[in-house]
Amino acid sequence: MGNVVNFAHRGSSKVCPENTMAAFKKALEQGATGIETDVQLTKDGHMVLIHDETLERTTSGSGWVKDYTLQELRSLDAGGKFDPAFQGEVIPTLDELLELAQDQGIIVNIELKNGVILYEGLEQKVIERVKAFQMEDRVVISSFNHYSLYLCKQLAPKIRTGILYMEGLFEPWKYADTLRADALHAYHYAVLPEFVQGAKAAGKVYHPFTVNDVQEMQRLLDAGVDGIITDYPDRLAELLAAK
Ligand code: G3P
Ligand code: CA
Repeated sequence: MGNVVNFAHRGSSKVCPENTMAAFKKALEQGATGIETDVQLTKDGHMVLIHDETLERTTSGSGWVKDYTLQELRSLDAGGKFDPAFQGEVIPTLDELLELAQDQGIIVNIELKNGVILYEGLEQKVIERVKAFQMEDRVVISSFNHYSLYLCKQLAPKIRTGILYMEGLFEPWKYADTLRADALHAYHYAVLPEFVQGAKAAGKVYHPFTVNDVQEMQRLLDAGVDGIITDYPDRLAELLAAK
């Protein structure tokens, strides 16, 4: 199981404010070998890492992410709502995470957050930065918007893509193949051992989300998944080390 990727979901998001540099760095300390994050576009076209389309839950701001410039968003606090000890954390840019990942040799799962808001040109912009950091072989682009993943493959065939889905799809590897996707980012309860074997035979990999229970992690490892997306990279690191 040495090659199972330990993806920290929004960083180590149970002990640090999600999608902040503090959460990403903490995840690495805890043994994560991958970081999952969410990318959106600012009003002036910059890529920022934040899950919600609106600012209220995780920052000191309010309203839609898309309505603010990068400079305006960077003036917001993205840590204090989680815990006052993290006051001063800001919304990171994609470049900041790619720089850290390049330095640390980890994998980045970039989720394109283009389900509610259709950010025009997001695919091209993300791919341009991944190429600029020469990280084509260490990035997986995922999305619930599968047309967007299809576009990514057209633009950059070498960068891996992963379909995000919640439901129990029938033979999802066949559907993934129609998009030329490489990975299945399935809601973890939708993952059965026979599906993992089917995917492997078709040359696809499984990265279930979001798995926080240790027994469920073990069930999925036994089923042969290739990576797990978790809020608790420390728990998964411990399980992987015991193998
Ligand atoms: O990538 C898995 C997971 O992050 C998808 O759901 O809502 O946490 O972005 P969400
Ligand atoms: Ca996500």
